[in-house]
Amino acid sequence: MTTTCSPPEIPDRGVARVRSDVRALRAYCLSAPVVAAGDLVRLHQNEAPDDWPEDLKREIADRLATLPWHRYPAARAEAVCEALGRMQGTPAAMVAAAAGSNEALAAAFAAFAARGTVVMSSPTYSMAAILAVGAGARVVEVPLGPGFALDAGALLRAARVHRAEAIYMASPNNPTGGALAPEAVAEVLDGAPGAVVLDEAYWEFAKTSWLESIHAHPHLVVVRTFSKALAGAGLRVGWITAQAPLVAELLKVLLPYNLNVFAQVAVPVLAARRDVAASRVRAIVAERDRIGRALLAMGACVYPSETNFLLFEPGRPPAEVHRKLAERGVLVRDVSAAPSLAACLRVSIGAGADNDRFLGALADVLKEGP
Ligand SMILES: Cc1ncc(COP(=O)(O)O)c(C=O)c1O
Repeated sequence: MTTTCSPPEIPDRGVARVRSDVRALRAYCLSAPVVAAGDLVRLHQNEAPDDWPEDLKREIADRLATLPWHRYPAARAEAVCEALGRMQGTPAAMVAAAAGSNEALAAAFAAFAARGTVVMSSPTYSMAAILAVGAGARVVEVPLGPGFALDAGALLRAARVHRAEAIYMASPNNPTGGALAPEAVAEVLDGAPGAVVLDEAYWEFAKTSWLESIHAHPHLVVVRTFSKALAGAGLRVGWITAQAPLVAELLKVLLPYNLNVFAQVAVPVLAARRDVAASRVRAIVAERDRIGRALLAMGACVYPSETNFLLFEPGRPPAEVHRKLAERGVLVRDVSAAPSLAACLRVSIGAGADNDRFLGALADVLKEGP
């Protein structure tokens, strides 16, 4: 007689054990269609168009070669914090360096709101909600008002109703491009029941910054990055600025050794060259205005921008325009899945020749007809 055995029940210790709020997330996705590699125009990640001058890169590479790679770098990247503090006029004790502003945001959400709530307006930087949920927070989104204006009253009401530990705002905002109205930000800062995390990834392209408000607001955290105006996306460096006691708390959830040797050598050299960064910003702003005018002349609707990108409605289904641009080797960002942006694409401001290729390809696509 044969007996059949059913296999023993093995508890699923993998995917099923991942927190349900994490499983419910949609992974960060660049939505870049598959295109042949080659001479691509990369206007989909809001990177700086130009690299740093060759001689500076060489100086950094030479220093890097003299350092021991088998040793840990400085655990808290003190030289980086000093350099960033000098660059923006704050003491190093008010600065905490991170592996990109993404890591800075994740640390702020973890410190303030794990097992709590973060309120943010929407649409905003798509990673903000992912980072907050990853840090263990619940996210409550509040729609931006007409013209993508910050609805301070609605944001504060939501923060009170949901007993939010933190409010996140980006100014200028991504992907809409505009800076938040100063009165609205001030209202949120004054009325917030908890911490305010203000993301200034694009502040260099804007007319306003909230860094100075740190001194009057012990609940304010400003987050900045080396990835945009400072042309250092490859370094993965971002930073938090806040009052020193708050920085000391946030450092407890930032990983030690989060900045590798390359970043620790490069930042002090590059941060001292504000002249290079400033002329880069001027060139990008001039190109942004030129591209904005060209898009309007093509019949597109263009939103005001204080960043290194433009949000626009091409007047045709964005997914199709996105795909056809990619077929011509031009990558832009399809943001049409975001709330209120169903008709929109986002294009980063590149170098002059790349911008011309984008405008030429878009004119071609729009001429083709549906
Ligand atoms: C508003 C905003 N914040 C933060 C980031 C993240 O930048 P990084 O992690 O490269 O510093 C981005 C990147 O696009 C952004 O748009």
